[in-house]
Amino acid sequence: MKLTGLDGKTALITGASKGIGKSIAGVLADSGVRLICCARNESILLQACSEIEKGGGTAVPVRADVASPSDRKHLIERSISEFGGIDFLINNAGVHKEKAAMELSDEELLQTMQINFFSMFSLSRDIARQMIARQGGKIINLGSFWGQLGVRKQLPYCISKGAVEAMTRCLAVEWARHNIQVNTVAPGHIMTDISKAALENEKIRNDILRRIPARRVGNPEEVAYLVAFLCSQESNYITGHIYYIDGGQLISW
Ligand SMILES: NC(=O)c1ccc[n+]([C@@H]2O[C@H](COP(=O)([O-])OP(=O)(O)OC[C@H]3O[C@@H](n4cnc5c(N)ncnc54)[C@H](OP(=O)(O)O)[C@@H]3O)[C@@H](O)[C@H]2O)c1
Repeated sequence: MKLTGLDGKTALITGASKGIGKSIAGVLADSGVRLICCARNESILLQACSEIEKGGGTAVPVRADVASPSDRKHLIERSISEFGGIDFLINNAGVHKEKAAMELSDEELLQTMQINFFSMFSLSRDIARQMIARQGGKIINLGSFWGQLGVRKQLPYCISKGAVEAMTRCLAVEWARHNIQVNTVAPGHIMTDISKAALENEKIRNDILRRIPARRVGNPEEVAYLVAFLCSQESNYITGHIYYIDGGQLISW
């Protein structure tokens, strides 16, 4: 079976230069979706987009920090000038930093919230305005199974990902009548730069693997295929849900 409703559509992917975002860009481009890709480091972003173009896809690189209101405005303006509008918004960019709650400043908490949560809300609201006018669209947010857990020294990340889940439900019920579906894909441990340091340490890796029923970490493509399904027409009746993709870790005892 082939997924339908992807070929010829347009997507904006934040954090598309590396890891999960880069894989999502590759899978959507292979399905004929034309892309606006953003990240802060321009040279890595240009390299990722040129790989897609070499493979026959369309990927327009736009250097942008999603935490910056003016960069977000520019990103949306470029999306409209390049493609006339966005069918799929993939809110993927995210960061995490280990710090004990007692050492955490107000500013550090707000900084993580700006990138991992406020940017997702702001882009969703502004792009949904066009989606409502076009009577359709898909918004897929990247959460994390840590949004459901209490993790030592990860308070900003856990709060931001929990907020993404709550936002997903609220936006889904407000916009379902406009044929806009909003869902979250929440990975467990996936091998990317964000998780590399921990997974390269043998002791930490073994501790992590012991907790995962599948006894392995995931790879970015496994996340990307779920995102592609949630962009396709076959998922049109699915909205407001959180999809954990974690080898069974969250539900295991
Ligand atoms: N890997 C995992 O195990 C895992 C698990 C659960 C959830 N997730 C979530 O999955 C998403 C992708 O993670 P990943 O593992 O692929 O991370 P990654 O390999 O570190 O890639 C992050 C991407 O986001 C971009 N980015 C970061 N901050 C940005 C900002 N302020 N503005 C624009 N772009 C920004 C990065 O490029 P620049 O640095 O150049 O901006 C990069 O392209 C995140 O939301 C993460 O929380 C990952």
